[in-house]
Amino acid sequence: MSTTVFVTRELAAPGVAPLFEAGCAVRQHPSADVAPTRAELLAGAAGCDALITLLTDRVDAEVMDCAPHLRIVANYAVGYDNVDLDAARERNIVVTNTPDVLTDATADMTWALLLAAARHVGAGERLVRTGAWAGWSPTQLLGPGFPGKTLGIFGMGKIGAAVARRARGFDMRVVYTNRSANSELESALGAQQVSFDDLLTQSDFIAINAPLNAQSRHRFDAAAFARMKPTAVLVNAGRGPIVDEAALAVALQTGQIAAAGLDVYEREPAIEAGLFECENAVLVPHLGSATVEARAGMAELCCQNVLAVVGGLAPLTPVS
Ligand code: DGY
Repeated sequence: MSTTVFVTRELAAPGVAPLFEAGCAVRQHPSADVAPTRAELLAGAAGCDALITLLTDRVDAEVMDCAPHLRIVANYAVGYDNVDLDAARERNIVVTNTPDVLTDATADMTWALLLAAARHVGAGERLVRTGAWAGWSPTQLLGPGFPGKTLGIFGMGKIGAAVARRARGFDMRVVYTNRSANSELESALGAQQVSFDDLLTQSDFIAINAPLNAQSRHRFDAAAFARMKPTAVLVNAGRGPIVDEAALAVALQTGQIAAAGLDVYEREPAIEAGLFECENAVLVPHLGSATVEARAGMAELCCQNVLAVVGGLAPLTPVS
């Protein structure tokens, strides 16, 4: 009997071609842009051997129980906070993610936001597009320079490390918080592991590149913003709920911090209303992995993980 796989969206090229080539029976939600409803997710999952899911799908016990033979949930993302890992473990279902293939894309987006937020790219663009720009001025939209400043990275995994390596080109000092020290990075870049409070108080720029878990949820709250420099720029390319969005809007409005760049939000696609009023916030729609190469790599890795597991082999990138 062939393997049945439910893919919860149309994926960017090459999509799930390897699954068709391997003779799998593929069910696919017929849209790249619109997520399946809960009912569609449950119906699609029913009786499947494998699921390829997105970060927008809540993959919990109810979904897994629709598919008594389910062997793998291949999440098309490096983050996997949308998957109930305990429920999967109890049912001997393998969960995989897509590390490495999107590291550079997400690090680049982190830097795009750091630069855009610091140098008022959003506000400047609005000025030009609304026809309000009166011409060059010595004092218009001044932002901080990067050389010699301190970049604090919250979460020194592969993406955090790629962000740190890029900081070398900007002649910056790098400090970071992480569960474990990254000695390789420390000797290569002179990066320094610090306490969370030191990260807040020492950093001129902070990049959040951590996964969402019980420890990171709302780690950046009103108390954290109060510890940051009033000139600090905060960027979040990890997961939205790491930042208390309402508190961030207040911190930006009251000048407690200077600027922010967000790729991710607490309740996507909803965004805290106060943020829309902040000229000093750059807001992009969760584009961290949105390069042609990264999305192709993510699709390929999902397919490889599915084919490995249904073929009785070890998954390439299991979530631990
Ligand atoms: C991920 O892979 O977790 C990213 O957030 C997707 O862009």
